[in-house]
Amino acid sequence: MSNRKKLQDQIAIVTGASSGIGAGIAKALSEAGATVVVNYSSSADKAEAVLGEIKQRGGQGIIWKADVSKEAEVQDMFRKTIEQFGTVDILINNAGLQKDAKFHEITLEQWEKVIGINLTGQFLCAREAVKEFLKRGVVPSRSKSAGKIICISSVHEVIPWAGHANYAASKGGVMMLMKSIAQEYASMKIRVNSIGPGAIRTPINHAAWQTPEAYQNLLKLIPSKRIGEAEDIGNAAVWLASDDSEYVNGITLFVDGGMLLYPGFEDNG
Ligand code: BGC
Repeated sequence: MSNRKKLQDQIAIVTGASSGIGAGIAKALSEAGATVVVNYSSSADKAEAVLGEIKQRGGQGIIWKADVSKEAEVQDMFRKTIEQFGTVDILINNAGLQKDAKFHEITLEQWEKVIGINLTGQFLCAREAVKEFLKRGVVPSRSKSAGKIICISSVHEVIPWAGHANYAASKGGVMMLMKSIAQEYASMKIRVNSIGPGAIRTPINHAAWQTPEAYQNLLKLIPSKRIGEAEDIGNAAVWLASDDSEYVNGITLFVDGGMLLYPGFEDNG
């Protein structure tokens, strides 16, 4: 058996990689041999820290500031990455945020911010990635695919979420964006899939796990009876990015401790 790492010599852009799930994925891809572009929008110090950890473990990459909702910044990030590393093999469409409010109180600004980062951002990055994948084609020594896109969605691409209509709408949109691109480019050896995380211990949902009371309440939604960790998502991302999943296209892989199993029915109904 060769001891070649699964993502050896591949270049990955991970958006929103300065914290949370993005940081976990960046580290996991690096462990699997990829060179990682650690994208961030405001926290340069946190992005530096993620890259520092990667380098300490023998990995390589750069940090890159870009707001994924801005077309020119996204195009610049891809241009610079390709200039510096030659190509992009893997895009992790991770950058995302919540602006929670009761539906009748959501401002247009909160709506547009969430759709802008969570959905338009995934569109802009995926479009640049697909252009590069089409231009380069398959390089068999690196991967059986011309490129892989992994959209970080959520269980809320299917579970409605009161008080979070903008966020749930953005993730429902990500699902159909992902599937439509997967259908359009499958014959060109481009694979597009999503990961649908449940509750993962990150800054986005700290209110849901920071006190013992909140955590106990959260566990009612999780049959596996533990919150997820960024590493759980990192492991799934490595699999979806590698040739181990070469025949997998257009799916959402839910990594949620069973959150989608309607846990309220365990002792009811
Ligand atoms: C949200 C988290 C939430 C989780 C489960 C994620 O998509 O960002 O805030 O804890 O879904 O509801």
